[in-house]
Amino acid sequence: MGRFSIAIDGPAGAGKSSVARTLAQRLGYLHIDTGALYRALTLLVLRRGVNPAEEAAIAKLAREAQISLVAGSGGVKVFLDGKDVTDAIRDPVVSENVSLVAQHPRVRDHLLAIQRELAADGGVVMDGRDIGTVVLPDADLKVFLTASAKERARRRMKELRTQGHKVTYKDILLSIRARDNLDAERLVAPLRAAADAVFLDTTGKDIDTVVEEILGYLSAVGGRDECSTDV
Ligand code: CDP
Repeated sequence: MGRFSIAIDGPAGAGKSSVARTLAQRLGYLHIDTGALYRALTLLVLRRGVNPAEEAAIAKLAREAQISLVAGSGGVKVFLDGKDVTDAIRDPVVSENVSLVAQHPRVRDHLLAIQRELAADGGVVMDGRDIGTVVLPDADLKVFLTASAKERARRRMKELRTQGHKVTYKDILLSIRARDNLDAERLVAPLRAAADAVFLDTTGKDIDTVVEEILGYLSAVGGRDECSTDV
């Protein structure tokens, strides 16, 4: 059995990254957080003072920037031009601007090539918004994770407060809804479940429960063989 490609899509705060990371660890696969690529580029856009509406300027930045995902024992680290930006890309200011940057077709085109290259050898769990529909349309398993907006906002609030950000539930809920709308309504590669995706509502479920469910679906498509059971 070859090494499988697993696509995980869904709205902000549905648990994609945590689930994808744990799933990849269980399978000995590479976790590719595609949102981190969009976030790193957005950080650069903000640092350079470029208007997030300026497609040409951002596409140029995207071509010139060195954005890389480096797998380590503590998870994947994100580097921008040689500097570790793993924490910086989670800043609420980046979250507020990332969907504006991500809506530009030329920007998406550039990052699409990078994402496909990262996934070329299989053995990947890739999470994002358009993985099952655009980036890996032939993925062996596609999962669309959802959760109620309120639960997603609560999760994100906990995460940000743990990182020391002073944020309110109301602001986060508004920001999540705004981002979901932009992501779902953009013309190119909108947030959408692939026709052949499995829908999984994670409301009230912890990460391990969701991972177990996905492993069940993976077995059903014949891909559980290489899963290690001792983790
Ligand atoms: O972790 P969270 O759900 O907040 O979002 P993320 O996965 O870090 O993605 C941040 C943003 O990048 C999304 O809101 C999208 O605007 C964009 N994105 C995208 O357009 N396509 C992807 N494959 C991944 C992210």
